[in-house]
Amino acid sequence: MAICYDENAKTISIDTEHTTYQMKIGPYGVLLHTYYGKRISGEDMSYLFRYSDIGFSTAMGDAGMDRTVSLDTMPQEMPSFNVGDYRAEGIRVQHGDGSYALDLRYVSHDITRGKYSLKGLPAMYGGSETAETLKVVLKDRAKEFYVTLLYGVYEELDIITRACLIENREEKTAVMDKAVSMSMDFLTGDMDIYTFNGRHEMEREVERRKLGRGITSVGSLRGTSSHQHNPFVILCSSDTEEEYGECYGFSYVYSGNFLAEAEISQRDQLRFAMGIHPSRFRILLEKGRVFAMPEVIMSYSGSGLGRLSIQFHRAIRNYLCRGKYKNSRRPVLINNWEATYFDFTGEKLISIAEEAAKLGIEMLVMDDGWFGKRNLDESGLGDWIPNEEKLGMSLKELVERVREKGLAFGIWIEPEMVSEDSLLYQEHPDWAFALPGRTPGRGRCQLVLDLGRECVREYLYQAICKILDTGDISYVKWDMNRSICDVYNPELPPEQQGEAGHKYILGLYDLLERITARYPDVLLEGCSGGGGRFDAGMLYYSPQIWCSDDTDAIERLKIQYGTSFCYPVSTVGSHVSACPNHQNGRITPLHTRGVVAMAGTFGYELDISKMSDQDKEEVKEQIEDYKKYFDLVQDGDYYRLTKPEEDFTVWQFVSRDREKSLVNAVMTSAKANAPDYIIRLKGLDPESRYKEEGSGKIYQGSALMWGGYLLPREIGEYQSYQLYFVRV
Ligand code: GLA
Repeated sequence: MAICYDENAKTISIDTEHTTYQMKIGPYGVLLHTYYGKRISGEDMSYLFRYSDIGFSTAMGDAGMDRTVSLDTMPQEMPSFNVGDYRAEGIRVQHGDGSYALDLRYVSHDITRGKYSLKGLPAMYGGSETAETLKVVLKDRAKEFYVTLLYGVYEELDIITRACLIENREEKTAVMDKAVSMSMDFLTGDMDIYTFNGRHEMEREVERRKLGRGITSVGSLRGTSSHQHNPFVILCSSDTEEEYGECYGFSYVYSGNFLAEAEISQRDQLRFAMGIHPSRFRILLEKGRVFAMPEVIMSYSGSGLGRLSIQFHRAIRNYLCRGKYKNSRRPVLINNWEATYFDFTGEKLISIAEEAAKLGIEMLVMDDGWFGKRNLDESGLGDWIPNEEKLGMSLKELVERVREKGLAFGIWIEPEMVSEDSLLYQEHPDWAFALPGRTPGRGRCQLVLDLGRECVREYLYQAICKILDTGDISYVKWDMNRSICDVYNPELPPEQQGEAGHKYILGLYDLLERITARYPDVLLEGCSGGGGRFDAGMLYYSPQIWCSDDTDAIERLKIQYGTSFCYPVSTVGSHVSACPNHQNGRITPLHTRGVVAMAGTFGYELDISKMSDQDKEEVKEQIEDYKKYFDLVQDGDYYRLTKPEEDFTVWQFVSRDREKSLVNAVMTSAKANAPDYIIRLKGLDPESRYKEEGSGKIYQGSALMWGGYLLPREIGEYQSYQLYFVRV
C-alpha cells in the first residue's frame, strides 16, 4: 500500500514512486501537514516544526497557558477559521447560532484500494490496481460539523489528488461562503509561482514570479475557468528549470469560478489553496447536507518542470480523459469555419468533402451557421433545428452525402447559449441568466442559458439527441462563446442565490455526462472561443479541446507551449489554417503550419478548393506524417527544449521505450549571418545509437543529449524541421 499509518508517530504517509506526502495527528488532534516532496521513508517529518511562543500569534483555546501551540503557525492540512489562524481562510462557515468558526480536529481515517469518485463532479478514476484512497474525517471542536478530506493516490504516476466533503450535522443550518478543495502549508516559502494567463486568442502565457509576503492569487469570476487565468499553478524553487529543481503542480478539475491563493506569512511559511471562488458563493448547509468540493490533481517533481509536465500528461491522458478516443487516433478533420464562416451551403460542404477525401482527410466538421436563423452571430442560438433552406437539403442527406465521399461527419453546437433573436428565446425568455429588474449584458450578442435548471437541461438534451440521431454523426464540437454574468436562478430563494453559479457548472457536467453516456462513440471536442475553458474538468467529458481561436502557427507556438505545462498533446485541438492568417495576417510556410498542428489533434481549417496542386500534395504528405508519428506523439513523453523567446521553438517526443523520437523545430526569428543553433535532446537512451531518418546519419544518444544537434537554418521566415530518430 502506498498509504501507511504509523500508530506510534500518528503520521499518515503517502509514498508514491518518487514522492512522499505526510500528515500527522498533532497536538489536540489538529491534522498537521508535515511534508510533501522527494520520497522519504519511515521518518516522522514533524521534527522540522518548532513550537514556540510567537508574539501576536494566538495560542489555541484548549492549550491552556501553553503559548507555543498556535494555529497561526502550525502547518495544517485544512485551515481553521476565526480561532487563531490569521492566514488565508480555507472553509469559511457561520453556524446556526451565528458564530463564525471552524476548528477542525482529527476523528478517524480509512484507507481503501481504488480511487474515490465525486458524485456529479469530474474526477480522475482508477481501479484497485492503479489507485488507493485515503479518507480523513475531521470534526469541528464544538459543532457537529465535519470535513472529510479525500486523497487519491497513483503510486506509479507520482500523482495525488485531493478533494473534500463538507457536512453540517447540527440542527440549525450553517452558511458557508468560502470553500477550498485543498490547502497545504509549507514550512518554508522561498518559492516562485507559475501562472498561465491570457486573453481570447492568446491563452496560457507563462508567467513566473517570486512569491512575496501577503497573498498572490489567480482566479476567475467569468463563470468559466477562463482564457484569462488557467486553473493550473506551479510552485517551484527559485532555481528550478526544465530539467532541474523542485516543483509542485496543482490542476483544478473544475470549469467554473476558481481561486488559487498562495500566501507567504509573517514567518515565511507558505500556504497554498485551491477552491471555488468565494465571490457570489454562499452555500446553505442544512442538517445532513454534504457539499462536495471539486478535485485538485497534484504532483511533485524533484527533477524539474519537464518531469512534472510528463507526470500530469500521463495522469490526464490515462486516468481523467475517457471514452473510445482517449487512446486512439482521432480522424484527421477539416473544419469549414475559417473556410466559409457563415457563408456556406450543403453543396459547398460536400465539395469540400470531395476534395478533402482525395488528400486523405477523414472527417468534415460543419461549424457554426447550419441551424435556425444563423447567418451572422447575432441570432439563432438555441434553435437547434437544421436550416434546410440554407443547406439546400436536410441534415440527414448532407451527412449521408459527406459519408458517401468517404468522410465521417462532425457538427458544431453551442448549447449553453441563446440569441434573443431565436424561437427559443421568444418561448422561454426566462431561461437565460438575468438579474431581476436589469437588462442582462450580452457577450457576442448572446445570453447564457441557465444550465443549473432542470427544464433547460432537458430541452438541450432532447435537442442534442435529435441532432445526433439524424444520421451517422461522429463528432461534436461543443462551443461556449462568452463569459457569464447576471447569474441569478429564479428557482432558488434569495438566500440561495450564492449557489447559482456552481449549480450551472454541475448542470453542465450533468448534461455532458448524459450525452457522452448515450453517444459513447461520438468524439467530443470542447471549445470556448478556443481555450476559454481548457481545464481538467472539461477533459473528463471531451478528450480534446480547441486550444485557441488564434490559428497563426507562430503565436500558437507560444499558446501550445503554455498549454503543455499541464495538458497532454492528445488534448490540444490544433489545425492548419489559411495564409495570410485570419487573426493576425501573418504568412507562414504550409510545412510549418503542419508541424505546429501536429503538436495537437491535427486537422485543417481552410478552403481547400483555393489551394494550389503543390500545396495539396504537401497536405497529403502531412497527413501521412501525422499518421506515422501518431503513436509517438500521443503516447510518448513530451519535452520542451526551448523557451518562446528564443530564435527557435523546439519540442520533442520520445517513445516510452526510447526507441523513437521526433524533434520539431520552428525558426521564429529570421536573421542574417545568424549564429549556429545547437539543441540538446532529452529522454533518449545515452547508451544507444540513433539514426536520423532524413540524413541517414547515426548518432550516440549521449552525444545528442549532452552535445546536442546542430539545427539546419535556411534563409526565409518561419522555417521548420521535423527530425525523426530511430534507435539502431
Ligand atoms: C468560436 C470557436 C470557433 C468557431 C466559432 C463559430 O469562436 O472557437 O472555432 O467555432 O466560435 O462561431
